[in-house]
Amino acid sequence: MAIVAPSILSADFARLGEDLASVSDAEWVHVDVMDGRFVPNLTIGPLVVEAVRRSTDKFIDCHLMIVEPDHYTGAFIDAGADLVTVHAEACPHLHRSIQAIKARGCKAGVALNPHTPESILDYVLDELDLVLVMSVNPGFGGQSLIEAVFPKISRLRAEIERRGLSTHIEVDGGVKVDNAWRFVEAGADVLVSGSGVFGAKDRRAAIAAVRAAARP
Ligand code: DX5
Ligand code: ZN
Repeated sequence: MAIVAPSILSADFARLGEDLASVSDAEWVHVDVMDGRFVPNLTIGPLVVEAVRRSTDKFIDCHLMIVEPDHYTGAFIDAGADLVTVHAEACPHLHRSIQAIKARGCKAGVALNPHTPESILDYVLDELDLVLVMSVNPGFGGQSLIEAVFPKISRLRAEIERRGLSTHIEVDGGVKVDNAWRFVEAGADVLVSGSGVFGAKDRRAAIAAVRAAARP
């Protein structure tokens, strides 16, 4: 069974508490932080993560789509993040960025844009709790998945197994009830879904269907 991480980017921020309660069947909550520089969109900061922390006891998965994330990882950890993910493309000293997160007792992830090869992680993979494979170009919810992501997930899963690691592979972007099985079959075990869950008539059913994703 996969872990489901609804992305609150597709929630109604005027009713965030209620929307969080509506997805409380999911194991994780995915928080998309955008700075208008790394990606062409602005979203939220540590204050909202603090508010999420007050309204749920779920595992908070913070996806930082920001330049120079080292300046802010501590603030997100203090706000209550359980896992902080930085983008490889935003970190010239990726090993240092990962260590800084872990030194504060938080789990650490690295995200890869669609064009970034998984080999960029060759010398840090053993340090990671999670690799986030972007299946769309980051910045917006509701986009369609990019097919080239599937061989990347498979290669990463093979490498994680070869090394005997328990690193999660999370996929993010365009994950829906009807295609979730393809990501799981390729080797992902954490599925982010924003519009697929929040846009569903029955959110609980959508979460259950994504979690149980199987080839039709
Ligand atoms: C995109 C974000 C995603 C987004 C996914 O930049 O990282 O987490 O919310 O949204 P959907 O599931 O609608 O593609
Ligand atoms: Zn995300």
